[in-house]
Amino acid sequence: MKLATNYLGLKLRNPLVVGASPFADNVKSAILLQDAGAAAIVMRSLFEEQIEMEQRALTCLLEMPAESHSEATSYFPYYEEYQLTPDHYLKQIGQLKSALTIPVIASLNGFRPGGWTDYAQRFESAGADAIELNLYHVITDPLLSAAEVEADMLATVRSVTSSVKIPIGVKISSFHTAPAQFSLALEAAGAAGVIVFNRFYQPDLDIEELEVLPQLKLSDPTELLMRLRWLAIISPHLKGSLASTGGAHNAEDVIKAILAGAHAVQLVSVLLKHGPRYLSTILQGLVSWMDVHGYENVSEFRGAMNLRRCPDATAFERANYQRILQSWRV
Ligand SMILES: Cc1cc2nc3c(=O)[nH]c(=O)nc-3n(C[C@H](O)[C@H](O)[C@H](O)COP(=O)(O)O)c2cc1C
Repeated sequence: MKLATNYLGLKLRNPLVVGASPFADNVKSAILLQDAGAAAIVMRSLFEEQIEMEQRALTCLLEMPAESHSEATSYFPYYEEYQLTPDHYLKQIGQLKSALTIPVIASLNGFRPGGWTDYAQRFESAGADAIELNLYHVITDPLLSAAEVEADMLATVRSVTSSVKIPIGVKISSFHTAPAQFSLALEAAGAAGVIVFNRFYQPDLDIEELEVLPQLKLSDPTELLMRLRWLAIISPHLKGSLASTGGAHNAEDVIKAILAGAHAVQLVSVLLKHGPRYLSTILQGLVSWMDVHGYENVSEFRGAMNLRRCPDATAFERANYQRILQSWRV
């Protein structure tokens, strides 16, 4: 049986990738994950603001008065609160590369063009096998149009893809009006693949203290459903790779994502909950399912349930929506 898959031009031994998270901060955890069967590991992100903070600190020291900091910079974590400084990040790439045989994917996180994208070259020089570029952005400016937002994102992607030889995967949000069109535009901008979707950390409100409560809840499997829909819609059109991130918690979820068109399925919450070794249970489940269903190769069923053969995908989606609503009686 062949579990091997091609993701972002990298040959992976199977489709299970450890998603961007604290796991790669620690070489021992990364080795445990590799031993459990992980086919690649994505490092936590290095953020646009973090890199710019460092660059600004240098310039400030040289020429700017202390009060020139903007109010916005005060919202961000202090420089030392980030788990990995830019320098430490580059060293960590080197350490992971010497300890692991699986590909190491570094992650850059930002949404507008700027000097911070130079870090892509540093990641490449430090030995990263690929880069995941996370475009996380919550658009709050009512005067900013979707077209302008996406133009900025595409310019950012182009500046990264044109500066390095290693493949770039782009992690996007589900809040694009037309995720399939945007995925193709990312590909035209040089991306080797698209990762769907960013999970937005949704703050709650404290109604006694009237405070906003930022919170991080691990995902649950219901979150996979939105990914399945868009994998199925996007995968017939994309030439490059497609990965799913969000809500995959067991072998069945992984199988569904592959059936919908994913080349790779990223796991984070499930591994934080059950520990790195749980990855081997998920992998075993995938192997057993393939065995029972007579599949020799992952590519035999990848995309088998996408919308390639659907003559009118828009009508299909709308019809299903109406059928579901009509199925309720009170
Ligand atoms: C503790 C934690 C840290 C994370 N850090 C990052 C990060 O630095 N960059 C990033 O792109 N995603 C980050 N993520 C998001 C995950 O990569 C993933 O997309 C998300 O958790 C959904 O997948 P899951 O349902 O398997 O958890 C983080 C998630 C968690 C739980």
